[in-house]
Amino acid sequence: MNYTRMVIEREAPEEYGYERIRYNLSESSIADQKLSDIGLSLPDLTLFYGEHRGDKALRDLIAAQDAGIAPDDVLVTAGAAGALFIISTSLLSASDHLVVIRPNYATNIETPRAIGCAISFVDLAFEEGFAIDVERIKAAMRPNTRLISVTCPHNPTGTMMSRADLDALVALAEASGCHLLVDETYRDLSYGKRLPVAASLSKKAISVSSLSKAFGIPGIRIGWLITRDAALQEKFLAAKEQIGICGSIIDEGIARGMLDRRDAFLAKLLPEMAKRRDIVQA
Ligand SMILES: Cc1ncc(COP(=O)(O)O)c(C=O)c1O
Repeated sequence: MNYTRMVIEREAPEEYGYERIRYNLSESSIADQKLSDIGLSLPDLTLFYGEHRGDKALRDLIAAQDAGIAPDDVLVTAGAAGALFIISTSLLSASDHLVVIRPNYATNIETPRAIGCAISFVDLAFEEGFAIDVERIKAAMRPNTRLISVTCPHNPTGTMMSRADLDALVALAEASGCHLLVDETYRDLSYGKRLPVAASLSKKAISVSSLSKAFGIPGIRIGWLITRDAALQEKFLAAKEQIGICGSIIDEGIARGMLDRRDAFLAKLLPEMAKRRDIVQA
């Protein structure tokens, strides 16, 4: 692995200094929450090594959000970033190729680069409403393509792919014998009907998400990946164990409390965001 710091992290507000920023026009999540804002207090936790896959009650809550997902399909990670790192380093080696639909989150590009992979980019265009062109993705595939990587809901444009495009990407991954990674970190900020969790559609699809953006609690570093392929999940678990054995009991305790309140929290948040969006669009 050939690590270099990513610009997005070097220039992150917490690195630059929040006190030096007068107007933050590019924050990617809702306002950071205090424990008291969300009505949480820390339970009297035993600070042992937690379950390596992540606390079972937390995985139950994550799996219960969507049809077709079981708690053992879920691996709790150190944020979505931790999940993305585990996926790239488990699936890819220097002789592999991947297709990245761009813009994409920096980790989805820089970790494969650090591994030494060949990357083909398929760029989304403003003129096309940032819509995915499955034929261009197909054309970028090579015999050694191991991964197709896409973010949806999309950061930074906020666009969503259609159900037909998601199904076409899943079918392409299955036909090519590679994996489809869908970074769904913004899924809980979707208005209206959501796409299904990609991992629920195929064993070749891997979903990633976290509590950082929609819930404003990036400081607890709780995210997850979902795969219905048990052998692949075992490999991801091995990676997690080699990185840090298990997650933080305190982080997982807070995450459980947040997901217990998930529906009420989002029911308050989403209409407020829709109001602001309408003001900006007017
Ligand atoms: C698309 C996307 N994926 C993943 C992440 C990482 O989030 P986390 O805080 O869950 O590691 C971000 C953060 O900005 C993001 O925008």
